[in-house]
Amino acid sequence: MTEKHVETYETPMEIAWQFDYEMDIEKLRNLYSKSKRLQWDGERDLDWSIEVDPSKPIIDDDRFGLSEIPFVKRLSQSQQETFRAHVGAQRLSQFLHGEQGALMTAATLTHAVPDYEGKLYAATQTMDEARHVEVFERYVRKLALVYPMSPFLRELIDVTLKSGHWVKVAIGMNMIVEGLALGAFHNMRRATSCDLLRSLIEGVLRDESRHVAFGNVYVGKTISDMHPDDREDVADFAFDALMMMARATGRREGERPAPDPTFLAVLENSEIDPKDFVAGMREAREQGIEFDQPPGTIHAFKDLMMPALVRVGAITDRTREKFEAEGIRIFEDASVLEAMEDDDTGTLDFDEALANAS
Ligand SMILES: [Fe+2]
Ligand SMILES: [Fe+2]
Repeated sequence: MTEKHVETYETPMEIAWQFDYEMDIEKLRNLYSKSKRLQWDGERDLDWSIEVDPSKPIIDDDRFGLSEIPFVKRLSQSQQETFRAHVGAQRLSQFLHGEQGALMTAATLTHAVPDYEGKLYAATQTMDEARHVEVFERYVRKLALVYPMSPFLRELIDVTLKSGHWVKVAIGMNMIVEGLALGAFHNMRRATSCDLLRSLIEGVLRDESRHVAFGNVYVGKTISDMHPDDREDVADFAFDALMMMARATGRREGERPAPDPTFLAVLENSEIDPKDFVAGMREAREQGIEFDQPPGTIHAFKDLMMPALVRVGAITDRTREKFEAEGIRIFEDASVLEAMEDDDTGTLDFDEALANAS
């Protein structure tokens, strides 16, 4: 028997029994009903007979942000394809590992939320995330290439799971990690040339709209009912988690993203010297080339995470100053986020929502 790769740790999570069995948070009850109604089955509803050629990229050339970089254009056609195929596999692998994290945080919410309808809702999210792990695992297997989990994503999810309070778990997962994921899913849905992957992601996005809405209807109310000291404690958690994200993505002015070892592995597998790549990126910046953002691209940090945190009151006057001191701008426009929450089809076109956003 082969040995399974398992990593464990203990968390200080609170468990809450609830004996009132009363459905008095109407919005949450509606979300729960909707979740039951809209369950889909990836095994039955997706066409797995669609062939995926692991040697071919799943990202369209003209939707691949890095294609515009002169350094990438100078690579041979076959090397460009290899690079795109590996970038695709690296991203899909992060989706898979992130979904496993979401499965565990959703289960944690089921244990810990104090309200009956909150528990029922969180159980549906747990099932949603299980189905997401299932379909991404099956798809990644077709690519025949699994990258390890990015240490940045792993750290953020571990900090969330270890935070000890369900409000922090919901902030870390339903707002920050899922904000990142929603942006990435939406962008991949637009960028991929694979029909199977597109319909898989549309199914996932349909579910994710509820996960984002949960953060808003439930966490917002809880934070506003909190003692001010507890609210500041939650705000500090949100600040720390966002700073982790900011460091990983290079959000601070004049700062470059920290090198992600899984991306370095992509370069290695594509036979691109990391030094040449860094020089190529510098050259593109000096030429003023905007990369990584074809029209309609969602910016997770600005369009999803920040507005979600502001909306529920997880950014207070005190932490606002802390963000400013770190050179991080606060974005409050929730129009993209709200468009996402209202979308039960997973096929929303965000150009309009983005046009309305400042
Ligand atoms: Fe998910
Ligand atoms: Fe989710």
